Amino acid sequence: MTLLRLQSVDGYYGGARILHGVSLEVGAGERVAILGRNGVGKTTVVNACLGIARVRAGQIAFQGQAQASIRHFTAARAGIAVVPQGRRIVPGLTVRENLALGAAVGRPGKWNFESVCDLFPILRERADTPGTAMSGGQQQMLAIGRALMANPALLILDEPSEGLAPVIVDELAATLVRLAGEDTSILLIEQNFSLVHRVAQRYYVLSKGAVVDQGTVEGMSMADLKKHVAV
Ligand SMILES: Nc1ncnc2c1ncn2[C@@H]1O[C@H](COP(=O)(O)OP(=O)(O)OP(=O)(O)O)[C@@H](O)[C@H]1O
Ligand SMILES: [Mg+2]
Repeated sequence: MTLLRLQSVDGYYGGARILHGVSLEVGAGERVAILGRNGVGKTTVVNACLGIARVRAGQIAFQGQAQASIRHFTAARAGIAVVPQGRRIVPGLTVRENLALGAAVGRPGKWNFESVCDLFPILRERADTPGTAMSGGQQQMLAIGRALMANPALLILDEPSEGLAPVIVDELAATLVRLAGEDTSILLIEQNFSLVHRVAQRYYVLSKGAVVDQGTVEGMSMADLKKHVAV
């Protein structure tokens, strides 16, 4: 089953056309990556799905339903949770309160404070301290935990490895593979080939707002992947 489908999407901010006929799909239980250099429109794909960037042509469907009017505050209820670029941990809120935000906008399901803290024990240890007082890697766990609290069918991660040490990126890769399953698909936006190589089953390459390449990761070396995305 196709969970998310973009068909020939033109995405705009005001009058500025950023996405040019983008088509891509994420199947149920699939792990898909979007690769591309800075400023090619990766985050705009997310924003188009959330209704933050305007879709003037083409279609976005989630679970088979056209998403003409989905807004970022209703996306989580529909089953899409985003780990935003730069993590956006809310300053002044504790770890526990940041996690509660995810639950507040989401759906009921297996993820709650206890199960998220079982996945990331550091969040239980630091539950009552400010979220922004933690290290970058811990804040990324908090951002992922907050998204999981919404019990999404689709977890979108926008450059989660940004600013993280390689050893933390290794842990992140293992966690993401473990998280994905029948009821949770992953759309991973990344410039880190190693993370894409370890997490994704398929990839799309974006350049100047258009999909210029796509394929499966299986059987590909990291060098292959790099060659494929050398655009
Ligand atoms: N809110 C906005 N209003 C107008 N233009 C924007 C807005 N946000 C981004 N842009 C422009 O849209 C283009 C694509 O930006 P986008 O953030 O999607 O790129 P990206 O691939 O996510 O880049 P990065 O890897 O740096 O995060 C850029 O030229 C950017 O300047
Ligand atoms: Mg971006």
